Amino acid sequence: MKVLVTGGAGFIGSHTVVELLSEQHETLILDNYRNSSPEAVRRVRELSNGRVTAQEADILDTQNLSCIFAEFQPDAVIHFAGLKAVGESTMNPLLYYRQNIEGAISLLEAMDRNGCSDIVFSSSATVYGEPDYLPLDEAHPLRPANPYGKTKYFIEEMLRDWCAADKHKSAIALRYFNPVGAHASGRIGEDPNGIPNNLMPFISQVAVGKRERLKIFGNDYDTHDGTGVRDYIHVVDLARAHVAAVNALVRIDGFEPVNLGTGQGYSVLDVLHAFEKASGRTIAHAFAPRRPGDVAASYADPTRARQLLGWKAELGLDEMCISSWNWQRQNPDGYAGS
Ligand code: NAD
Ligand code: UD1
Repeated sequence: MKVLVTGGAGFIGSHTVVELLSEQHETLILDNYRNSSPEAVRRVRELSNGRVTAQEADILDTQNLSCIFAEFQPDAVIHFAGLKAVGESTMNPLLYYRQNIEGAISLLEAMDRNGCSDIVFSSSATVYGEPDYLPLDEAHPLRPANPYGKTKYFIEEMLRDWCAADKHKSAIALRYFNPVGAHASGRIGEDPNGIPNNLMPFISQVAVGKRERLKIFGNDYDTHDGTGVRDYIHVVDLARAHVAAVNALVRIDGFEPVNLGTGQGYSVLDVLHAFEKASGRTIAHAFAPRRPGDVAASYADPTRARQLLGWKAELGLDEMCISSWNWQRQNPDGYAGS
Protein backbone atom coordinates (compact mmCIF):
# COMPACT_ATOMS: atom_id res chain seq x y z
CA MET A 1 0.00 0.00 0.00
CA LYS A 2 0.97 3.64 -0.43
CA VAL A 3 0.92 5.30 2.99
CA LEU A 4 1.29 9.03 3.66
CA VAL A 5 2.67 9.62 7.16
CA THR A 6 2.14 13.08 8.66
CA GLY A 7 4.64 13.81 11.43
CA GLY A 8 6.74 10.90 10.17
CA ALA A 9 10.01 12.50 11.33
CA GLY A 10 8.87 12.49 14.97
CA PHE A 11 9.46 9.94 17.73
CA ILE A 12 6.63 7.49 16.97
CA GLY A 13 6.39 8.38 13.27
CA SER A 14 10.04 7.56 12.51
CA HIS A 15 9.76 4.12 14.16
CA THR A 16 6.51 3.46 12.31
CA VAL A 17 8.02 4.31 8.93
CA VAL A 18 10.82 1.79 9.55
CA GLU A 19 8.21 -0.92 10.27
CA LEU A 20 6.03 0.08 7.28
CA LEU A 21 9.03 -0.20 4.98
CA SER A 22 10.00 -3.57 6.41
CA GLU A 23 6.48 -4.75 5.44
CA GLN A 24 7.01 -3.41 1.88
CA HIS A 25 4.56 -0.49 2.16
CA GLU A 26 5.52 2.55 0.09
CA THR A 27 5.69 5.63 2.33
CA LEU A 28 5.86 9.38 2.08
CA ILE A 29 6.80 11.34 5.21
CA LEU A 30 5.27 14.77 5.49
CA ASP A 31 6.65 16.95 8.29
CA ASN A 32 7.35 20.63 9.00
CA TYR A 33 10.15 19.68 11.48
CA ARG A 34 8.62 21.84 14.19
CA ASN A 35 9.46 19.19 16.78
CA SER A 36 11.86 16.96 14.87
CA SER A 37 14.87 16.95 12.61
CA PRO A 38 15.61 15.95 9.00
CA GLU A 39 18.40 13.90 10.59
CA ALA A 40 15.72 11.48 11.83
CA VAL A 41 14.60 10.96 8.22
CA ARG A 42 18.21 10.45 7.14
CA ARG A 43 18.57 7.72 9.78
CA VAL A 44 15.28 6.07 8.86
CA ARG A 45 16.65 5.99 5.31
CA GLU A 46 19.86 4.40 6.59
CA LEU A 47 17.87 1.73 8.48
CA SER A 48 15.64 1.06 5.48
CA ASN A 49 18.19 1.03 2.65
CA GLY A 50 17.21 4.42 1.27
CA ARG A 51 13.62 3.67 0.31
CA VAL A 52 12.09 6.64 2.18
CA THR A 53 10.70 9.77 0.60
CA ALA A 54 10.02 12.87 2.66
CA GLN A 55 8.55 16.27 1.97
CA GLU A 56 8.73 19.35 4.17
CA ALA A 57 5.16 20.63 4.50
CA ASP A 58 2.71 22.02 7.05
CA ILE A 59 -0.57 20.15 7.43
CA LEU A 60 -2.38 23.46 7.90
CA ASP A 61 -1.64 24.35 4.26
CA THR A 62 -4.58 22.48 2.66
CA GLN A 63 -3.76 23.63 -0.86
CA ASN A 64 -0.20 22.30 -0.75
CA LEU A 65 -1.39 19.14 1.01
CA SER A 66 -3.91 18.55 -1.74
CA CYS A 67 -1.19 18.84 -4.40
CA ILE A 68 0.96 16.32 -2.47
CA PHE A 69 -2.01 13.92 -2.29
CA ALA A 70 -2.71 14.33 -6.01
CA GLU A 71 0.88 13.46 -6.82
CA PHE A 72 1.49 10.60 -4.34
CA GLN A 73 -2.06 9.14 -4.45
CA PRO A 74 -1.89 7.40 -1.07
CA ASP A 75 -4.19 4.49 -0.23
CA ALA A 76 -4.10 5.45 3.45
CA VAL A 77 -2.84 8.10 5.87
CA ILE A 78 -1.26 7.75 9.31
CA HIS A 79 -1.71 11.05 11.09
CA PHE A 80 0.92 11.76 13.79
CA ALA A 81 1.50 15.48 13.17
CA GLY A 82 0.49 17.72 16.04
CA LEU A 83 1.58 19.29 19.29
CA LYS A 84 1.70 17.09 22.39
CA ALA A 85 2.87 18.95 25.51
CA VAL A 86 0.14 18.93 28.17
CA GLY A 87 1.57 21.87 30.17
CA GLU A 88 2.03 24.06 27.09
CA SER A 89 -1.55 23.28 25.98
CA THR A 90 -2.86 24.56 29.32
CA MET A 91 -0.92 27.81 28.96
CA ASN A 92 -1.64 28.29 25.26
CA PRO A 93 -4.87 26.43 24.44
CA LEU A 94 -5.59 28.27 21.18
CA LEU A 95 -2.24 27.16 19.76
CA TYR A 96 -3.32 23.56 20.40
CA TYR A 97 -6.82 24.02 18.99
CA ARG A 98 -5.37 25.71 15.88
CA GLN A 99 -2.55 23.22 15.28
CA ASN A 100 -4.25 19.96 16.20
CA ILE A 101 -7.89 20.54 15.28
CA GLU A 102 -7.43 22.81 12.27
CA GLY A 103 -4.56 20.56 11.15
CA ALA A 104 -6.87 17.52 11.22
CA ILE A 105 -9.63 19.36 9.32
CA SER A 106 -7.12 20.48 6.69
CA LEU A 107 -5.85 16.90 6.30
CA LEU A 108 -9.35 15.40 5.99
CA GLU A 109 -10.27 18.05 3.38
CA ALA A 110 -7.18 17.19 1.33
CA MET A 111 -8.12 13.49 1.63
CA ASP A 112 -11.70 14.24 0.48
CA ARG A 113 -10.50 16.24 -2.49
CA ASN A 114 -8.33 13.32 -3.58
CA GLY A 115 -10.62 10.38 -2.84
CA CYS A 116 -8.52 9.01 0.03
CA SER A 117 -10.87 7.48 2.60
CA ASP A 118 -8.70 5.56 5.11
CA ILE A 119 -6.89 7.02 8.12
CA VAL A 120 -5.11 5.89 11.28
CA PHE A 121 -5.00 8.63 13.91
CA SER A 122 -2.68 9.09 16.94
CA SER A 123 -5.02 9.49 19.85
CA SER A 124 -4.04 9.14 23.50
CA ALA A 125 -5.15 7.42 26.70
CA THR A 126 -5.39 10.96 28.05
CA VAL A 127 -8.92 11.07 26.51
CA TYR A 128 -10.13 8.93 29.45
CA GLY A 129 -9.15 11.41 32.20
CA GLU A 130 -9.43 10.16 35.79
CA PRO A 131 -10.25 6.41 35.58
CA ASP A 132 -13.58 5.14 36.99
CA TYR A 133 -12.17 1.60 36.81
CA LEU A 134 -9.07 -0.29 35.71
CA PRO A 135 -7.99 -1.63 33.31
CA LEU A 136 -9.32 1.04 30.94
CA ASP A 137 -11.32 -0.34 28.03
CA GLU A 138 -12.59 1.62 25.03
CA ALA A 139 -16.10 1.87 26.54
CA HIS A 140 -14.78 3.90 29.51
CA PRO A 141 -16.28 7.45 29.57
CA LEU A 142 -14.16 10.12 27.89
CA ARG A 143 -13.41 13.27 29.89
CA PRO A 144 -10.00 14.72 28.99
CA ALA A 145 -8.74 17.15 31.62
CA ASN A 146 -6.55 19.50 29.56
CA PRO A 147 -6.66 21.25 26.15
CA TYR A 148 -4.21 18.75 24.58
CA GLY A 149 -6.43 15.83 25.62
CA LYS A 150 -9.52 17.71 24.44
CA THR A 151 -8.02 18.14 20.96
CA LYS A 152 -7.58 14.34 20.78
CA TYR A 153 -11.19 13.85 21.92
CA PHE A 154 -12.60 16.42 19.43
CA ILE A 155 -10.61 14.92 16.55
CA GLU A 156 -11.95 11.47 17.43
CA GLU A 157 -15.49 12.89 17.33
CA MET A 158 -14.74 14.56 13.99
CA LEU A 159 -13.48 11.27 12.57
CA ARG A 160 -16.61 9.52 13.82
CA ASP A 161 -18.80 12.07 11.95
CA TRP A 162 -16.56 12.00 8.84
CA CYS A 163 -17.04 8.22 8.67
CA ALA A 164 -20.77 8.40 9.43
CA ALA A 165 -21.27 10.69 6.42
CA ASP A 166 -19.84 8.16 3.95
CA LYS A 167 -19.94 4.39 4.41
CA HIS A 168 -16.72 3.93 2.43
CA LYS A 169 -14.66 5.83 4.99
CA SER A 170 -12.61 4.15 7.73
CA ALA A 171 -10.77 5.65 10.67
CA ILE A 172 -8.91 3.91 13.47
CA ALA A 173 -8.02 6.08 16.48
CA LEU A 174 -5.15 4.47 18.37
CA ARG A 175 -5.21 5.50 22.02
CA TYR A 176 -1.59 5.18 23.12
CA PHE A 177 -0.76 4.63 26.77
CA ASN A 178 2.88 5.58 27.57
CA PRO A 179 5.20 5.14 24.57
CA VAL A 180 8.89 4.67 25.53
CA GLY A 181 12.02 2.94 24.25
CA ALA A 182 13.82 3.21 20.95
CA HIS A 183 14.80 1.24 17.87
CA ALA A 184 17.21 -1.61 18.74
CA SER A 185 19.92 -0.03 16.55
CA GLY A 186 20.06 3.06 18.78
CA ARG A 187 19.92 5.20 15.61
CA ILE A 188 16.41 6.64 16.17
CA GLY A 189 14.71 7.48 19.45
CA GLU A 190 12.92 10.15 21.49
CA ASP A 191 14.59 13.55 21.28
CA PRO A 192 12.72 15.98 23.55
CA ASN A 193 13.35 19.71 23.41
CA GLY A 194 14.73 21.16 26.66
CA ILE A 195 13.81 19.56 29.98
CA PRO A 196 11.85 16.35 29.40
CA ASN A 197 8.31 16.28 30.85
CA ASN A 198 8.02 12.52 30.64
CA LEU A 199 9.54 9.92 32.91
CA MET A 200 11.69 7.74 30.63
CA PRO A 201 13.56 10.55 28.82
CA PHE A 202 14.17 12.24 32.17
CA ILE A 203 15.61 9.07 33.71
CA SER A 204 17.79 8.55 30.59
CA GLN A 205 19.19 12.06 30.90
CA VAL A 206 20.00 11.52 34.59
CA ALA A 207 21.77 8.27 33.68
CA VAL A 208 23.87 9.97 31.01
CA GLY A 209 24.78 12.84 33.35
CA LYS A 210 22.73 15.63 31.74
CA ARG A 211 20.36 16.04 34.73
CA GLU A 212 21.27 15.83 38.39
CA ARG A 213 18.38 13.79 39.76
CA LEU A 214 14.90 12.55 39.05
CA LYS A 215 12.10 14.14 41.03
CA ILE A 216 9.49 11.48 41.75
CA PHE A 217 6.12 13.22 41.75
CA GLY A 218 4.32 11.70 44.74
CA ASN A 219 5.01 8.65 46.92
CA ASP A 220 1.65 8.56 48.67
CA TYR A 221 -0.58 7.21 45.89
CA ASP A 222 -2.72 4.16 46.52
CA THR A 223 -0.38 1.90 44.50
CA HIS A 224 1.94 -0.99 45.44
CA ASP A 225 4.83 1.34 46.38
CA GLY A 226 3.09 4.74 46.57
CA THR A 227 4.41 6.04 43.23
CA GLY A 228 2.32 6.53 40.07
CA VAL A 229 1.56 3.47 37.91
CA ARG A 230 1.42 3.59 34.09
CA ASP A 231 1.20 1.24 31.13
CA TYR A 232 4.54 1.77 29.34
CA ILE A 233 4.63 0.45 25.79
CA HIS A 234 7.71 -0.06 23.63
CA VAL A 235 7.70 2.28 20.62
CA VAL A 236 8.61 -0.61 18.29
CA ASP A 237 5.51 -2.53 19.46
CA LEU A 238 3.52 0.67 18.93
CA ALA A 239 4.97 1.08 15.43
CA ARG A 240 4.00 -2.50 14.55
CA ALA A 241 0.45 -1.80 15.76
CA HIS A 242 0.25 1.00 13.18
CA VAL A 243 1.22 -1.42 10.42
CA ALA A 244 -1.48 -3.80 11.69
CA ALA A 245 -3.98 -0.91 11.72
CA VAL A 246 -3.14 0.13 8.15
CA ASN A 247 -3.63 -3.48 7.04
CA ALA A 248 -6.94 -3.64 8.95
CA LEU A 249 -8.38 -0.49 7.31
CA VAL A 250 -9.44 -2.44 4.21
CA ARG A 251 -11.71 -4.73 6.25
CA ILE A 252 -13.04 -2.09 8.69
CA ASP A 253 -15.83 0.37 7.93
CA GLY A 254 -16.51 3.42 10.05
CA PHE A 255 -14.76 4.71 13.17
CA GLU A 256 -12.93 2.41 15.61
CA PRO A 257 -11.09 3.52 18.78
CA VAL A 258 -8.42 1.06 19.95
CA ASN A 259 -6.22 1.09 23.08
CA LEU A 260 -2.51 0.46 22.58
CA GLY A 261 -0.92 -0.72 25.81
CA THR A 262 0.53 -3.87 27.29
CA GLY A 263 -2.13 -4.21 29.99
CA GLN A 264 0.63 -4.24 32.63
CA GLY A 265 1.15 -1.29 34.98
CA TYR A 266 4.56 -0.33 36.39
CA SER A 267 5.32 2.26 39.07
CA VAL A 268 7.90 5.05 38.82
CA LEU A 269 10.16 3.06 41.16
CA ASP A 270 9.72 -0.12 39.06
CA VAL A 271 10.89 1.82 35.98
CA LEU A 272 13.76 3.44 37.87
CA HIS A 273 15.05 0.06 39.11
CA ALA A 274 14.68 -1.55 35.65
CA PHE A 275 16.63 1.35 34.14
CA GLU A 276 19.38 1.01 36.74
CA LYS A 277 19.68 -2.67 35.82
CA ALA A 278 19.71 -1.90 32.07
CA SER A 279 22.30 0.87 32.29
CA GLY A 280 24.43 -0.33 35.20
CA ARG A 281 24.16 3.22 36.61
CA THR A 282 22.59 4.54 39.77
CA ILE A 283 19.75 6.99 39.12
CA ALA A 284 19.82 9.73 41.75
CA HIS A 285 16.29 10.59 42.81
CA ALA A 286 14.24 12.43 45.41
CA PHE A 287 10.57 12.41 46.29
CA ALA A 288 8.62 15.57 45.46
CA PRO A 289 4.94 16.62 45.72
CA ARG A 290 2.40 15.12 43.31
CA ARG A 291 2.27 16.73 39.85
CA PRO A 292 -1.08 18.50 39.29
CA GLY A 293 -3.27 16.57 36.85
CA ASP A 294 -1.58 13.19 37.45
CA VAL A 295 -3.68 10.12 38.25
CA ALA A 296 -2.55 7.37 40.64
CA ALA A 297 -2.74 4.57 38.08
CA SER A 298 -3.61 4.07 34.44
CA TYR A 299 -3.33 0.91 32.36
CA ALA A 300 -5.04 -0.56 29.35
CA ASP A 301 -7.32 -3.44 28.60
CA PRO A 302 -5.65 -4.32 25.27
CA THR A 303 -8.25 -6.95 24.21
CA ARG A 304 -9.75 -4.89 21.38
CA ALA A 305 -6.37 -4.41 19.66
CA ARG A 306 -5.95 -8.15 19.62
CA GLN A 307 -9.45 -8.77 18.24
CA LEU A 308 -9.52 -6.00 15.65
CA LEU A 309 -5.88 -5.70 14.60
CA GLY A 310 -4.50 -9.13 15.53
CA TRP A 311 -1.80 -7.26 17.48
CA LYS A 312 -0.41 -7.51 20.96
CA ALA A 313 2.64 -6.00 22.65
CA GLU A 314 5.64 -8.34 22.70
CA LEU A 315 8.38 -6.30 24.39
CA GLY A 316 8.70 -5.89 28.16
CA LEU A 317 10.02 -3.27 30.57
CA ASP A 318 13.62 -4.54 30.35
CA GLU A 319 13.65 -4.12 26.55
CA MET A 320 12.14 -0.66 26.92
CA CYS A 321 14.91 0.41 29.32
CA ILE A 322 17.76 -1.28 27.41
CA SER A 323 16.75 0.36 24.12
CA SER A 324 16.19 3.79 25.73
CA TRP A 325 19.64 3.59 27.31
CA ASN A 326 21.25 2.42 24.07
CA TRP A 327 19.75 5.41 22.20
CA GLN A 328 20.65 7.90 24.96
CA ARG A 329 24.20 6.61 25.32
CA GLN A 330 24.88 6.75 21.59
CA ASN A 331 23.14 10.15 21.17
CA PRO A 332 23.59 12.11 24.42
CA ASP A 333 22.45 15.30 22.63
CA GLY A 334 19.83 13.63 20.45
CA TYR A 335 19.90 14.39 16.73
CA ALA A 336 21.51 17.78 17.41
CA GLY A 337 24.74 16.01 18.30
CA SER A 338 25.20 14.55 14.81
P1 NAD B 1 6.66 14.21 17.96
O1 NAD B 1 6.53 15.62 18.34
O2 NAD B 1 7.96 13.54 18.07
O3 NAD B 1 6.11 14.00 16.46
C1 NAD B 1 5.14 14.85 15.87
C2 NAD B 1 5.68 15.28 14.52
O4 NAD B 1 4.72 16.13 13.89
C3 NAD B 1 6.98 16.09 14.64
O5 NAD B 1 7.93 15.56 13.74
C4 NAD B 1 6.58 17.51 14.24
O6 NAD B 1 7.62 18.21 13.63
C5 NAD B 1 5.41 17.23 13.30
N1 NAD B 1 4.45 18.33 13.18
C6 NAD B 1 3.88 19.05 14.20
N2 NAD B 1 3.05 19.96 13.68
C7 NAD B 1 3.06 19.81 12.33
C8 NAD B 1 2.39 20.46 11.26
N3 NAD B 1 1.54 21.47 11.47
N4 NAD B 1 2.65 20.06 9.99
C9 NAD B 1 3.52 19.04 9.74
N5 NAD B 1 4.18 18.40 10.72
C10 NAD B 1 3.95 18.78 12.00
O7 NAD B 1 5.56 13.40 18.81
P2 NAD B 1 5.36 11.83 18.99
O8 NAD B 1 5.70 11.51 20.39
O9 NAD B 1 5.97 11.09 17.88
O10 NAD B 1 3.77 11.77 18.88
C11 NAD B 1 3.11 11.55 17.65
C12 NAD B 1 1.63 11.68 17.87
O11 NAD B 1 1.21 10.77 18.88
C13 NAD B 1 1.18 13.06 18.33
O12 NAD B 1 -0.04 13.38 17.68
C14 NAD B 1 0.95 12.90 19.81
O13 NAD B 1 -0.03 13.78 20.30
C15 NAD B 1 0.47 11.46 19.88
N6 NAD B 1 0.75 10.83 21.19
C16 NAD B 1 2.01 10.80 21.67
C17 NAD B 1 2.28 10.24 22.91
C18 NAD B 1 3.68 10.21 23.48
O14 NAD B 1 3.83 9.97 24.66
N7 NAD B 1 4.71 10.43 22.69
C19 NAD B 1 1.22 9.70 23.68
C20 NAD B 1 -0.06 9.73 23.15
C21 NAD B 1 -0.30 10.30 21.90
C1 UD1 C 1 1.82 12.46 30.39
C2 UD1 C 1 0.66 13.38 30.09
C3 UD1 C 1 -0.29 12.66 29.13
C4 UD1 C 1 0.46 12.22 27.88
C5 UD1 C 1 1.63 11.33 28.29
C6 UD1 C 1 2.47 10.88 27.13
C7 UD1 C 1 0.38 14.82 32.06
C8 UD1 C 1 -0.47 15.13 33.25
N1 UD1 C 1 -0.01 13.75 31.33
O1 UD1 C 1 1.28 11.29 30.96
O2 UD1 C 1 -1.36 13.50 28.77
O3 UD1 C 1 -0.41 11.50 27.01
O4 UD1 C 1 2.46 12.07 29.20
O5 UD1 C 1 3.08 11.95 26.51
O6 UD1 C 1 1.34 15.51 31.75
N2 UD1 C 1 7.06 11.27 36.75
C9 UD1 C 1 7.92 11.58 37.77
N3 UD1 C 1 8.95 12.46 37.52
C10 UD1 C 1 9.14 13.02 36.28
C11 UD1 C 1 8.25 12.68 35.24
C12 UD1 C 1 7.21 11.81 35.51
O7 UD1 C 1 7.78 11.11 38.88
O8 UD1 C 1 10.08 13.82 36.13
C13 UD1 C 1 5.98 10.31 37.00
C14 UD1 C 1 4.59 10.88 36.82
O9 UD1 C 1 4.12 11.48 37.97
C15 UD1 C 1 3.81 9.62 36.42
C16 UD1 C 1 4.84 8.77 35.66
O10 UD1 C 1 6.11 9.25 36.08
O11 UD1 C 1 3.40 8.91 37.56
C17 UD1 C 1 4.73 8.89 34.16
O12 UD1 C 1 4.77 10.27 33.80
P1 UD1 C 1 4.83 10.75 32.27
O13 UD1 C 1 5.92 10.02 31.57
O14 UD1 C 1 4.89 12.24 32.27
O15 UD1 C 1 3.46 10.22 31.65
P2 UD1 C 1 1.95 10.51 32.13
O16 UD1 C 1 1.88 11.34 33.35
O17 UD1 C 1 1.26 9.20 32.18
